[in-house]
Amino acid sequence: MKDFKGKTAVITGAASGIGEAMAHKAAGLGMNVVLSDIEAAKLKTVAAELASFDVEILPVVTDTSSQSSVFELADAAFSAFDHVHFLANNAGVSGVALGHAWEITDEEWQWVMGVNWYGVLYGVQAFVPKMITGGEDGVVVNTSSIMGLNTGRSSPYNVSKHAVARFTEGLYYDLKVADSKVTAALLCPGPIATEIVKSERNRPEAETETRDPAKAAEIKARREAMYEYLQKEGIPPSDVAEMVFDYVARDEFYILTHPDLIRASFRRRAKGIDAGNPLPLPGDYVAEAKEKREN
Ligand SMILES: NC(=O)c1ccc[n+]([C@@H]2O[C@H](COP(=O)([O-])OP(=O)(O)OC[C@H]3O[C@@H](n4cnc5c(N)ncnc54)[C@H](O)[C@@H]3O)[C@@H](O)[C@H]2O)c1
Repeated sequence: MKDFKGKTAVITGAASGIGEAMAHKAAGLGMNVVLSDIEAAKLKTVAAELASFDVEILPVVTDTSSQSSVFELADAAFSAFDHVHFLANNAGVSGVALGHAWEITDEEWQWVMGVNWYGVLYGVQAFVPKMITGGEDGVVVNTSSIMGLNTGRSSPYNVSKHAVARFTEGLYYDLKVADSKVTAALLCPGPIATEIVKSERNRPEAETETRDPAKAAEIKARREAMYEYLQKEGIPPSDVAEMVFDYVARDEFYILTHPDLIRASFRRRAKGIDAGNPLPLPGDYVAEAKEKREN
C-alpha cells in the first residue's frame, strides 16, 4: 500500500506503546483512525491527543480476547467508514507467571493466548472478509515478537507469539492464493520502551500466580528489572511506527525492529534443527540453572 491519506486504519492496543505510536503516525499520514483498546480512560486520552489532526478518530473499547467484542469493533469501523485499509492486530500482554512448562496455570495460558493469539485470529476473521470484498488495497499487520521467531523457554507469551508468526505467514500465502488486493505483514519487535511488562493491569482473573509471597516477590523483582531494561535499552515506540509504515509502503513482509538480534536468534534455532539436536541452550539459561544448583 503506497498511499495512506484519506484511508482508514484500525489499531488494537492503541492506548499505549507501539499501538499508540502507530495511531499517531497513521493520523499524521492523513488516515482516519479507529483506536481500540481495553483501557477506556487511556483510549479517551489518546483520542483527545489525535483530535488536532485533520482526520476522523473513533475510539472503541474492545477486549481482543473476546470474539464478539472484536466483531463489534469491525461493525463499528465499517459503519463509521466506507472501508478499512490498514488493520494492526497489535494488542498484547506479557503474562505474569514465572515457571516451568508444567507449572503455569490454565488461567495464565488462557489470558495470554486469548489476547495475543486469539485476538489476532479474531481480528482476521472479523475484518479480512470485508477488506477483501471491498476490492481496495489493504494490509493486515500482526504484531508478533522476536520471541515469535526464536527458540527459548516455554512461556505462554513465547508460544502465543510463535502462533502469530506462523499464522501470519500463512495468511500472507492465503491472500496471494485468493488473488486479493489485501496483503499481510508480520511485525517482530525486539526490545521497545513501552508498558508491556506491566500488563497484569489488564489481567481479568484473580492473580493466582502471586498468592505465594515468595513467588510474588520474585515476579515483582523480575518485572521491575525487565521494565528498567526496556526503558533503558529499548527503542522508542515511535521508531517502530515509522518502520511499520515504511515497510508497508515497500510491501515487505517481515518488519524486524532489530534485524541483527532477531536473525542471530533465529539462526540459533536453525542450527539446532540442522544439527538434529533440539536446542543449543543460550548461555543465560545455563548460568541460571547453575546458580540455582549452587544456592
Ligand atoms: N515492548 C516490547 O519490547 C515488545 C517486544 C515485542 C513485541 N511486543 C508486542 O507489541 C505489542 C504492543 O505492546 P507494547 O509493547 O506497546 O505494550 P503496551 O502495554 O504499552 O501496549 C499494549 C496495549 O494492549 C492493550 N491490551 C491489553 N490487553 C488487551 C485486551 N484484552 N484487549 C484489547 N487491548 C488490550 C493494553 O491496554 C495496552 O494499551 C504487543 O503485542 C507486544 O507483545 C512488544
